[in-house]
Amino acid sequence: MKKNKFSKNWIIKQKRDIYIKQSKIEGYRSRAVYKLQEINNKFKILKNGINVVDLGAAPGSWSQFISRNFKNLKLVSIDTKEMEEIENTHQIKGDFTDELQQKKIIDYFSRKIDLVISDMAVNTTGNKNLDSIVTGELSIEALNFSTNTLKKQGSFVSKIFMGSSFNEIVQHAKKNFKQVHIFKPPASRKDSKESFIICKHLR
Ligand SMILES: C[S@@+](CC[C@H](N)C(=O)[O-])C[C@H]1O[C@@H](n2cnc3c(N)ncnc32)[C@H](O)[C@@H]1O
Repeated sequence: MKKNKFSKNWIIKQKRDIYIKQSKIEGYRSRAVYKLQEINNKFKILKNGINVVDLGAAPGSWSQFISRNFKNLKLVSIDTKEMEEIENTHQIKGDFTDELQQKKIIDYFSRKIDLVISDMAVNTTGNKNLDSIVTGELSIEALNFSTNTLKKQGSFVSKIFMGSSFNEIVQHAKKNFKQVHIFKPPASRKDSKESFIICKHLR
């Protein structure tokens, strides 16, 4: 398909998307917010008073959702991209895979973390297989970080692609968490290979 035809289709798709319309009405920065909302409705991962890390947070709709709906939490949002401020959120601009950035996250909390959520994805290269491999590596890194920093019984949620590292991630998660679920929220586009892994109760 020619590039301009592809872009035209993309614009039509965006205009028809009810999640985009709704996010504009509700003042959220991205339609991705509804994925977190749907995950939370089903798995009840968020509650007042917890320590949360949002990995790959920009433009910020997940952090906005948490900040608006839950009280007394400590929320750290990290992304390589610049993000506009969000109330009650501590932002870090940097690469999460960098040890120094991970240390900054840990140092911010005075106690262990209750929940790590990751919507990290690389900028699309146009090569779906390559994108899913690199994003898979990010999920593995996020899972390793979680098993080292979460409190016992803590939870981890991550975007995961149906690709080469899928089985590795699920197996690793099952070793470390008592409950592991794979869920594709209705807000996740049907033509995307994306799903989410929800891991509860760190062993
Ligand atoms: C799909 S977007 C996240 C959308 C976000 N959940 C929201 O609700 O607005 C994926 C983000 O992951 C970020 N990202 C990718 N690799 C990263 C890394 N190594 N460290 C930090 N952020 C990263 C990208 O910059 C991008 O902003």
